[in-house]
Amino acid sequence: MTDRSVSISTPQITVLDTGGQYCHLIARKVRELGVYAEVRPSDTPATELAGRKGLIISGGPCSVYDQGSPTVDPAIFDGGPAVLGICYGLQLMAHLLGGAVLRGKTAEFGLATLELDHSCGDPLFGGLAARQQVWMSHRDVTTDLPGGFSVTGTTSACAVAAMAEPVRRLYAVQFHPEVVHTRSGAEILSNFLYRICGCERDWEPRHRIPSIEDDLRRVVGDRNVFFFVSGGVDSTVAYTICLRTLGADRVRGVYVDTGLMREGETDFVRATFDALGSAGVEIDRAADRFLPALAGVCDPERKRHIIGEQFLAEQERIIESHGLLDGHWILGQGTIYPDTIESGGSERAETIKTHHNRVAGVQKLLQSGRVVEPLSSFYKDEVRQIGLELGLPRALLERHPFPGPGLAIRCLCAEAEAAPVRTPDGWMIPIHSVGVQGDSRSYAPVLVVDPAGDNLHQAATELANRISAINRVITLVRGKTPIDELRVHPGSLTPDRLEKLRHADAIVRRLSAASGFEDTIWQFPVVLIPLGSSTCPDSIVLRPVDSVDGMTAQSAPMPQPLLQSISEEILAQPGLCCVFYDLTNKPPGTIEWE
Ligand code: XMP
Repeated sequence: MTDRSVSISTPQITVLDTGGQYCHLIARKVRELGVYAEVRPSDTPATELAGRKGLIISGGPCSVYDQGSPTVDPAIFDGGPAVLGICYGLQLMAHLLGGAVLRGKTAEFGLATLELDHSCGDPLFGGLAARQQVWMSHRDVTTDLPGGFSVTGTTSACAVAAMAEPVRRLYAVQFHPEVVHTRSGAEILSNFLYRICGCERDWEPRHRIPSIEDDLRRVVGDRNVFFFVSGGVDSTVAYTICLRTLGADRVRGVYVDTGLMREGETDFVRATFDALGSAGVEIDRAADRFLPALAGVCDPERKRHIIGEQFLAEQERIIESHGLLDGHWILGQGTIYPDTIESGGSERAETIKTHHNRVAGVQKLLQSGRVVEPLSSFYKDEVRQIGLELGLPRALLERHPFPGPGLAIRCLCAEAEAAPVRTPDGWMIPIHSVGVQGDSRSYAPVLVVDPAGDNLHQAATELANRISAINRVITLVRGKTPIDELRVHPGSLTPDRLEKLRHADAIVRRLSAASGFEDTIWQFPVVLIPLGSSTCPDSIVLRPVDSVDGMTAQSAPMPQPLLQSISEEILAQPGLCCVFYDLTNKPPGTIEWE
């Protein structure tokens, strides 16, 4: 454990990360069952894992035969801690212990029925009915068991859906017990923790506040703490716990208003920190530095890059002008557990970007012991529990996530005029939005389908899976111009277009909060696209999604009256032509459009 975060004695459970997006979900589920779990790279030497009661090898996107595919130290199978392999973890266990894994002819993806062989008396499935709904996502299959193993569960497509070798306490499942679609997933994980590993309950985030405070005092010493706050949950909870531990005189913050924020955000931030009794948060108005830097830029990756660089420049300027390098100050950050892993805490996490809490300037401060991160051992839902315990209002703790680059990545741009193309499946719109195909990001056009039809969401899912040239399917809710007369118009990140988006976003937030819909979903991005008529050149896309952690998501069905009132009010604004509704799940579409 590093010196800037809370201390935790040797974890009982370590999740070995083989690069799958579910590895954090496994650790979180274990913690929900009352046992602290950490995430480590899959090839962590067995000697470093001594003292654990159990190891879980996560699923991952590779095949055991891929060159350089993740592996584990085979010594972990020598009768030390109990081991549970999940998905790729099962295949790796079979492969390393002398079994055979073959490339399957077709992938098995989605719900399946697991038939358990209770005659094996496998404690992993103790107390479970013989037939179980499970969730599968794999192509390779195990065809020969390693010595000493027996099959404990099968599905119609998978002869080795679960296997066990009780002498060395090695257990493995091809399905994913950590996802909600595996109905008895929590019972299976609980059996592993308590029946097989003999774990004791040691984790309840709310009860850790005193030890967070002790660690804070130790790390900070007699220095003061400075934060860049965002108005989001993590930095506000981290700031609050510092304030409570160190007192208002020793904690300061700056909120950088980039000009890419939602309507009312700066006032919200000011009111939040005023209510905390902190006079120490100042607002840095930086819109006139961010917006010119973005003028005329259309490419999404360039936009992100420019915003990241500009943010860095702001931070450096503020650190210097506030004398924060003089030894009396230390930088406080709301970094949470997945952020530390994603930026190199673990080599295998399939991640896309360096987290802004780990950019070069911060790394320098980290190396010289000038950063404190009181929440770096916690997951988001745990941070919310801590915030609640600290007395922060639910309205703040339950805020939807909002991306760092702000409205910039919800304001799509185009360089040239283009027309929609009629296809047998709908209108293909030449606007490129981002999606996830395999493990990488891709940009592809959008398909507009007819709003008629019984099960639009299901039809959209089938289309998105069938047509590889798109990664998003939307439908028209209401428009001022027929689709065949719409055109993509050149447009960039101008103050005028940002203002249109900000206004539409404010309408959506107001109406969906008032109707209670906001509380039922994970996030509700509102996106401006450069598609319309000559007098109304832009349109709005509504993107409400359900999700557990943002890694996968489903397009959320909206109540018709709300959809109608939102679109009516949006189209009463000048310059807006149509309102669309995004029907795409993630994958293949991401939550954000860029
Ligand atoms: P995607 O679009 O990848 O988003 O499905 C997953 C979650 O991450 C948020 N997101 C970001 N958050 N900086 C952030 O702080 C970013 O650059 C960024 N991009 C996406 C997104 O809102 C969703 O909750």
